[in-house]
Formats: sequence, structure tokens, C-alpha cells
Amino acid sequence: MKVFNKIVDLQNALFLARKQGKKIGLVPTMGALHEGHASLITKSIGENDITVVSVFLNPTQFNDQSDFDRYPRTLEADSRLVEACGADYIFAPSVKDIYPCPDTRHFEFPPVTTVMEGERRPGHFNGVCQVVSRLFYIVRPDSAYFGEKDWQQIAVVKQLAKYINSNVRIVECPIIRDPDGLAKSSRNSLLTKEERAIAPAIYQILRESVGYAETHSLKETRNMVVERINAIPELEVEYFEIVDGDSLLPVENWERSEYIVGCI
Ligand code: PAJ
Repeated sequence: MKVFNKIVDLQNALFLARKQGKKIGLVPTMGALHEGHASLITKSIGENDITVVSVFLNPTQFNDQSDFDRYPRTLEADSRLVEACGADYIFAPSVKDIYPCPDTRHFEFPPVTTVMEGERRPGHFNGVCQVVSRLFYIVRPDSAYFGEKDWQQIAVVKQLAKYINSNVRIVECPIIRDPDGLAKSSRNSLLTKEERAIAPAIYQILRESVGYAETHSLKETRNMVVERINAIPELEVEYFEIVDGDSLLPVENWERSEYIVGCI
């Protein structure tokens, strides 16, 4: 496995691979890698000749400076994980390399960029689109791998790919969880012991809501989830929506609803 910091060095290596007709898979990450990321990397390795894992803590997608400052940075451990998975290249550029001058582009794909996280984290998806579009230009992958943990991000990236005329295949990968149900996340290491102990309750309640929904209306199901979570003293629901899996707009009835998306 090789680590590239410079765009030109990565592109030279990829130019040769592409000339030999090799398929290139890209796994974009912000580092602090865990088994969730590893599952994307393994999937890419199975489907491509070359797998590039980008590790870049993208400043333009953080609308909260303290979130950016606290974000775990673990490049050495990340390199070990990528190597153990068997990927070919890590691409770990500097901010100056990715953004030689400020990115003033503005990406809006309503409704997927305006609802839920789009509404509550202004500028977040714009920053995601800025960096993902640059990674697509730099790497020119055949396929790019994203996790369903960030379902809304996948919807946004699909729109972005169309918008920039990219024919990269967007591959959706299932959520990897800890044994108690909590989705693996780089930010989990920032939870206190107490917070970590309570967090799986959210997943348990969401799971229960699936069975509950079979015999109850949308409204009753929504109320049940909000009430059950709010009944836990340490938790308060910021928003909870039952939305169409493609448009991400609230559903009127159960017919076309695919996913329940919640956030605390
Ligand atoms: P990051 O949070 O590092 O996640 C990188 C990829 O790993 C995303 O596609 C995310 O959905 C996926 N992932 C994270 N945890 C997962 C889990 N438990 N199971 C399955 N997949 C999981 O998402 C980002 O970085 C950034 O926004 C990025 C796309 C890299 C742009 O900067």
C-alpha cells in the first residue's frame, strides 16, 4: 500500500493503472477509520482492480468550528487499517492541495440538500459537494463507495454526480453497528461512558417502531418514537422524520416510504 500526499503523484500512479484498463474504486473518508469504513474498502477491493481511500478532514463541510477542532485525527492507525484491508492507495492531501484557492461554488439540490441535515447544518452539504466533486475530478474513479449511515449524503452525492456529468457509479453500503446496535462512527470516541451506554436505546426504539408501524398510523408511529426517546432523561429529540427514501420528503402514507430517519 502506498500513501500519496500530492495530487500529481496519485494521478501518475492512476494514469498507468487506467491505461492498463484497470477499474478504480474510491472510498472517500475523513479518517478516524473503523469497521464501517473497512466494509466500504472491502467492497471496493472486491469490485475493482485498484482501491483508493481518501483521508481528508474537509473543513468546508463543518458548520461548527468546535466540531472540526474536536474531530479525531488518527492517520497512523488509519494507514494500518487500510493496509490490513488490502487497499492499494491512501490519498491524504493537505487543505492547500485540495483548495489552492477558496471554493466559491454553491451546490443546491432541493429538496435533498434543504431538508433535515440540510436545514439544521447550513453549508454542510455544500462542503460535501465541494470536496466530493474535487475527489471525483482528481481520482476519476469508476465507482465510489458511500455508507447508508449517511443516507441523506448518498442522496446528495447522487444528485451531484448527475450535476457535474460524472458517470461514476455510486455504491451504497449497509450500516455496520456495534453489537449493541449503535452505528459505528468516528465521533463515537467523543462520547462519555454514560452517553455511550445510553446511545443504543435510539436504535432499539427505531427497531421497535418498525413492528409498531405495521398496526399504527404514521402519526402514531412518529409520536411513539419521539415520546419514547424523550422519556429517557438524557435524550431530547431534535427532529424525527419519516420520509421517502429518494426525495427525502415526509411521506403521507406508508406506501412508498422506505426509511425512517431520526436524529437526536
Ligand atoms: P466519514 O464520516 O469519514 O465517512 C466516510 C464514509 O464511511 C461515508 O460514506 C460514511 O457513510 C461511511 N460510514 C461511516 N460509518 C459507517 C458505518 N457505521 N457503516 C457503514 N458506512 C459507514 O462521510 C464523510 O466522511 C464525508 O462527508 C465525506 C463523504 C468523506 C466527504 O468529506
